[in-house]
Amino acid sequence: MAGNSTASLSNSFSMNGGNGTYSYSKNSIVQRAASLTAEAMIEEVIAESLDFEKLSMPPNTFRIADLGCSVGPNTYIAMQHIIVSIVRKYKSKGLGPQLPDFQVFFNDQTTNDFNTLFTSLPPERQYFVAGVPGSFHGQLFPKSSIYMVYSSFAFHWLSEVPKDVLIKHSPAWNRGRIFYTSASDVVAEAYAAQFAKDIDSILNARAKEIVRGGMMISLLTAVPDEYHYSKSGLGLFYDALGSSLLDMAHEGIINEDLVDSFNVPMYVTSPKEMSRLIENNGCFSIERLKLLEYGSDLDVPLDTGKHVTHIRAALEGIITAHFGNEIIDELFDRFDQKATVYRHLDASYRKGFLLFLALKRQ
Ligand SMILES: C[S@@+](CC[C@H](N)C(=O)[O-])C[C@H]1O[C@@H](n2cnc3c(N)ncnc32)[C@H](O)[C@@H]1O
Repeated sequence: MAGNSTASLSNSFSMNGGNGTYSYSKNSIVQRAASLTAEAMIEEVIAESLDFEKLSMPPNTFRIADLGCSVGPNTYIAMQHIIVSIVRKYKSKGLGPQLPDFQVFFNDQTTNDFNTLFTSLPPERQYFVAGVPGSFHGQLFPKSSIYMVYSSFAFHWLSEVPKDVLIKHSPAWNRGRIFYTSASDVVAEAYAAQFAKDIDSILNARAKEIVRGGMMISLLTAVPDEYHYSKSGLGLFYDALGSSLLDMAHEGIINEDLVDSFNVPMYVTSPKEMSRLIENNGCFSIERLKLLEYGSDLDVPLDTGKHVTHIRAALEGIITAHFGNEIIDELFDRFDQKATVYRHLDASYRKGFLLFLALKRQ
């Protein structure tokens, strides 16, 4: 019977490395397309809210950090766009001759494939590069050393699975499921509580690192306010993955206890929830908080195989850490089969939402 581990998942969230079929670099088009919908807003918020006079130190070197950058290429596109927007802002203020050097810190978990990231860096880049391994839930940089933090599709990863959903017989025990979207409200509340704790840690760490007047721009997977999470298309796909795992348990291929102790450590927030968490934290002013929509134009029938591969690129590492790698191909074949029922998914499930957030260090 496969499955050998109930290891802590906190350091195994990295996306699949390399450039193969199931790599993140080949399966991150959805994130790239979604980030592109935010490009104009990034430029606008830099033009309007990045205030050079208010920065507590005039930068000779403008330090930017991308938190949860993965392996590229999305991070290079984002960093290039941010730098071009900052340069434009300098020039519009007549500060062209005082342009600083730019330095980009690429951050991700220690298990991230930094080799792929660094070997595919754009040769024509206009910035210096450094890699910073470690979790963004803690402090990563010296005090007041960073001017701009960017992060896309990363802060929805929790630092750990909420403890209550793993405790047998606790009201939040998430037996037979791997996510909260089709579970009872108590399970969703346990996830929300973990997310609140994690966002507070993220903001506290950034409050130390970012200079006064410096900014943080973040794109997060989200849902609209008052939207019931059972409407989430992602949730439906995770249910099909969970049900494939249960089938394998019922056939004796994996241990059912391992399925019950496996939950995806990810949470999808809403604009109201996020603004409450930022206000409670109190270290940042909200310059922009806007929900953007993408993907409702996806063709029907939906290419469900593409979605399955996309999920594989993101979750293979964490599944392998929990169940062992010998079940992976069979699991994803089964998941692929089950997911075909979603080919004619209603448009309301097909669209994705992106929360655009721009904060300024008070
Ligand atoms: C879906 S990828 C997004 C990558 C890239 N930002 C993009 O938009 O394509 C999420 C990334 O966040 C990283 N990540 C998750 N939790 C993290 C943490 N606590 N600290 C640093 N990186 C983390 C994962 O390893 C992964 O590379």
